[in-house]
Amino acid sequence: MPRLNINGRDVDIAVEDDTPLLWAIREQVGLTGTKYGCGVAACGACTVHVDGVATRACAVPVSAIAPGQKIVTIEGLSPDGSHPVQKAWAALDVPQCGYCQAGMIMAAAALLAAKPKPTEDEIHAEMTNICRCGTYNRVRAAINLAAEGGEPRRG
Ligand code: FES
Ligand code: FES
Repeated sequence: MPRLNINGRDVDIAVEDDTPLLWAIREQVGLTGTKYGCGVAACGACTVHVDGVATRACAVPVSAIAPGQKIVTIEGLSPDGSHPVQKAWAALDVPQCGYCQAGMIMAAAALLAAKPKPTEDEIHAEMTNICRCGTYNRVRAAINLAAEGGEPRRG
């Protein structure tokens, strides 16, 4: 039985070794903020952090997670929604339907942890998540806002 560390908690998961991490997170642990979109690592809806690295959980079998690796989902990004990326997302009303947004936020948080002041080219290169509602412009604006660490410019 694989043991995973998710959002700081060790959990024993009753799944086959080749079960995708996404389904362990959603169905075994009950953390449904992480979404299923494509199942083939193409859309990013299932993005979580594995040791801080944005990872598409639909394409990673639980057996690929080494003992001690730390998985963080959208539910564990901050205790109260106060991560700078979450605050920037709220300030700019980024989501439309919301389905892709947990993955977007996790990808953005990993990007900013690695590159606190990313260039537009770096944002473009790193943010490959798909949004069917077309929130891309607001996603980029919110990443820049979070990178600036400030309030949105008004007017
Ligand atoms: S559901 Fe994992 S990348 Fe689309
Ligand atoms: S907000 Fe609807 S898919 Fe992105």
